[in-house]
Amino acid sequence: MKPIQVGLLGIGTVGSGTFNVLERNQDEIRRRAGRGIEITMVADLDTERAKSVVGDKVKVVGDAREVIANPDIDVVVELIGGYGIAKALVLEAIAAGKHVVTANKALLAVHGTEIFKAAAEKGVIVAYEAAVAGGIPIIKALREGLTANSIQWVAGIINGTTNFILSEMRDKGLDFDVVLKEAQRLGYAEADPTFDIEGVDAAHKATLMSAIAFGIPVQFDKAYVEGITKLAGADIKYAEQLGYRIKLLGITKRTDKGIELRVHPSLVPAKRLIANVEGAMNAVVVNGDAVGTTLYYGKGAGSEPTASAVVADLVDIARLHGADPAHSVPALAFQSHTLAAAGHELPVLPMAEVVTSYYLRIRVADEAGVLAKITGLLAGAGISIDAVLQREADEVGGEGSTQTDLIILTHDTREGDMDKALAEIQGLPTVLAPITRIRKEELN
Ligand code: HSE
Repeated sequence: MKPIQVGLLGIGTVGSGTFNVLERNQDEIRRRAGRGIEITMVADLDTERAKSVVGDKVKVVGDAREVIANPDIDVVVELIGGYGIAKALVLEAIAAGKHVVTANKALLAVHGTEIFKAAAEKGVIVAYEAAVAGGIPIIKALREGLTANSIQWVAGIINGTTNFILSEMRDKGLDFDVVLKEAQRLGYAEADPTFDIEGVDAAHKATLMSAIAFGIPVQFDKAYVEGITKLAGADIKYAEQLGYRIKLLGITKRTDKGIELRVHPSLVPAKRLIANVEGAMNAVVVNGDAVGTTLYYGKGAGSEPTASAVVADLVDIARLHGADPAHSVPALAFQSHTLAAAGHELPVLPMAEVVTSYYLRIRVADEAGVLAKITGLLAGAGISIDAVLQREADEVGGEGSTQTDLIILTHDTREGDMDKALAEIQGLPTVLAPITRIRKEELN
C-alpha cells in the first residue's frame, strides 16, 4: 500500500524527534501500521534549521499553508502551539480533508468543541496523544484501555516543570523563587514560565482528561486553576513531618452533584507511588469502577518521548485512513452526540462545591486559648480536625519569639464551608498573617 504522507507544521524539539523516530523505526512502524508513514513536507519559519534536520529529500517551506494546500499530504501534524495561528491552520487542514495530529493542549482545551465538530463533519481524525503527559499513552488508556469502566477519578502530575521545582524545593529546603531561577538556568523552565507555574498547562491537560473520562465537552473555562508560586518551603517541610509530599495535581472527579475539575498544589500521602514521582517526570492515576486504581508513569515532555505519542497517532491514522469515520474511536471517547447532554447532567462544579480535606498553616500569637478559639470556629462550621501540629515559637520566629505556626489537617469538607470558617479565623486578632490553605488528597 502507498505510504501515508505527512506534513509537519513546525520542526522544533518535538518535530525533529518525530522525524528521527519515524526514520529510525520505519521498518517496525510499517509492519505495525500496514503501510509506510513518510514525512514528505515540512513548514517552518526557519527553513535553514528545518533543512538541517530533514535533509534534502523532504520539501521544506516557510509557509504552513503550502503544506495544507498540497493534495498529496494525508495528515498534518501541528507542532506550532498556542491558540493563534495554530487554530486557523488546524481548522484549514480539516477543511482541506486532512487528518490532524497535534500536541497542542491549549488549543484543544479551549477550542476543542469547535475543532472536533469540524473534524466530525469532514470525516477526518484529530488525534492528540502528545497533548497530555507527553510520552505516557494516557489518552489511549482512558479512551480505549479503560473503556469498560465508569471512571471515578483521575489525578495526575501532568506538568514536569512544576514537579521539578517542587522536588528541588523539598530536596534542598529552598523557596520557590530560588528554585525557579535555577530551573530556568538549567533549561527546565521556560524564560516565561507563567503557564507552567500558574497551573494553566496542567489545567489544559486535566480538562482534556476530564472530557474523555466522563464523556463531557471540554470546559477549560470552568476549571479551577492554582499554581505553585505561593508555596513556601516551610509548608513542604511541615507536610513532610506529617507524612505527606506536596505535588501540583490535576484532578477530575465524578461526584453525585457533578464533575470536579481542578489544578492546585495538594498534599499526598508520602507512601503513595505518585508522591514519589520526582523531577520532571509525569504520572497519572486513574480509578475506574471495574479496574480499581491504575498508574501511568513516564516522561511528560522532551523530543522523542513526545514524538513517541505523535507517531502512535500517525500509526492509528495510517490504519484507519480511508475507512468509514464511524469506525474510528470518538475524539472524546464517547459518541459526540452524547456529549452535550452528559455535560448538562454532569456539570463542572464551582470550587465552593468541591469536597476535599485541607492542610492549614496559621501564624498565631503564642497565647492561652488561641488554639481553642480556632478549633471552635472550625467545629462551628462542621469541619472535623484530623491532626494538629504546633511548632515551638523559638523554632518559628527565633529565640524569644511570641509567634508560632499552628498546622491543622482536616477531614473532608465542602470548600465553601472552609472558605467561611477561614474568613472568621483570619479575622481573629491573634491570627497574625494570611492563612496558608493547601488541599489534601488521600488518593485511595
Ligand atoms: N511545559 C510542560 C511541562 C510540557 O513542563 O510539563 C509540555 O506540556
